[in-house]
Amino acid sequence: MAIQTLSPPATAATLDFHGKATPLPIVIGTEGETAIDIQKLRASTGLITFDPGFGNTGACRSAITFIDGERGILRYRGFDIAELAAKSTFLEVVWLLLYGELPAKPQLAQLTDQVVRHTLLHENFRRFFDALPKDAHPMPVCAAAVAALATFYQEPTHNEQATKDAIVRLIAKMPTIAAYSYKHSIGQPFVYPQNRLSYPANFLHMMFSTPCDDYEVDPVLVRALDLLLILHADHEQNCSTSTVRVVGSSQANLFASVSAGISALWGPLHGGANQQVIEMLEHIEADGGDAQKFVDRAKDKKDNSRLMGFGHRVYKNYDPRASILRQACIDVLVRLNVHSRQLDIAMKLEDIALKDDYFISHKLYPNVDFYSGIIYKALGIPVNMFTVMFAIGRMPGWIAQWLESRRDPDNRIVRPRQIYTGARQRPYVPMEKR
Ligand code: ACO
Repeated sequence: MAIQTLSPPATAATLDFHGKATPLPIVIGTEGETAIDIQKLRASTGLITFDPGFGNTGACRSAITFIDGERGILRYRGFDIAELAAKSTFLEVVWLLLYGELPAKPQLAQLTDQVVRHTLLHENFRRFFDALPKDAHPMPVCAAAVAALATFYQEPTHNEQATKDAIVRLIAKMPTIAAYSYKHSIGQPFVYPQNRLSYPANFLHMMFSTPCDDYEVDPVLVRALDLLLILHADHEQNCSTSTVRVVGSSQANLFASVSAGISALWGPLHGGANQQVIEMLEHIEADGGDAQKFVDRAKDKKDNSRLMGFGHRVYKNYDPRASILRQACIDVLVRLNVHSRQLDIAMKLEDIALKDDYFISHKLYPNVDFYSGIIYKALGIPVNMFTVMFAIGRMPGWIAQWLESRRDPDNRIVRPRQIYTGARQRPYVPMEKR
């Protein structure tokens, strides 16, 4: 992957400040994105940049995922998301994200074998789950359980083999942790993984089997789940991935870094939006199903409502994952012979919003969360588990990005600066004079 740093004067930007011209090198990526390299900015000018939310900041070089938000393009390692969604499996995508190429047959067999052998959780985890309240939201439960893995597998930070083992364990154990957090919340006994089942089928088995009743794993649902996992597998430098990189930059171990990513994903403006979308659709349904009324509320600046599942920091066009999921929703429901009033409402909302001046001028389109919840519901996944599903899917992306940053010679501990706006120096006031 050729990334060039062109030195001045060939392609440098020039900053003019206080009459002094400072050349700043330009960095160009393989898809032509162009950045000003400001690494020497403060040293040479005394200035820092101000970019809340980092909307204009390239925090790293990355060869994993490419997004062109204006054109609605998403590619993992150069492969288009629609093609991967149609032809690939989640474990293939895991390999692709981690190692950069599609796996050959023996490589996929090896990964599958390793993942299958590491699905069990240490029995002490039973007591870990028991210690948590029954009504705990499964996202903090998963974040805590993943952090707790660091206490069971205390790998030294720089040991390659231990890191490889940690990667396999995280991919293998995340569905088990997720299913256990669900079983704990409904008071059912934990169901052990079944190694003869595929990755998504095993998860459905652990979620829905009981010791007295075997769950028949429906291949339509298995494929739908695999598709959802593929679509969530990576999304370059989003909030949770950046969190994983930030924590990893201090050389914290993989489990700790990923646990922080799960916490970041939980927020309603990020992965938590998939839960909010279904709650919004349920609310509209209970309120008589008037989609137009809700769109009007979302546009009203005096009303706090937003059209959840709409808008994206990067996509200023249709999120390609949303169009794949829209079709998948229709297909799954037809194959299951289920009619969903919420899908009707979602399509109506989309229809209205895409013709509405506010949404057009603000470039607000459905994002990945808009349709995913409807499929999760069809799979029987409870609403408070939706964001956990996202976390299972995002796991290989977090890991690949963590690994990449670890191996990046430019990697430094993340330590942004600030513009201080507080009080200037003042004398301490003794208690009796306050
Ligand atoms: N409904 C109504 N108006 C919206 C919406 C929405 N869903 N999203 C953005 N806007 C409006 C804002 O009010 C703002 O309007 P203004 O410029 O007239 O004041 C403008 O669009 C820009 O919004 P920001 O919040 O500044 O955009 P930002 O890039 O910071 O936020 C975000 C992106 C958080 C995704 C936002 O669009 C949002 O809140 N969407 C709903 C939540 C959601 O679906 N999140 C999932 C994102 S995908 C993911 O994380 C997997």
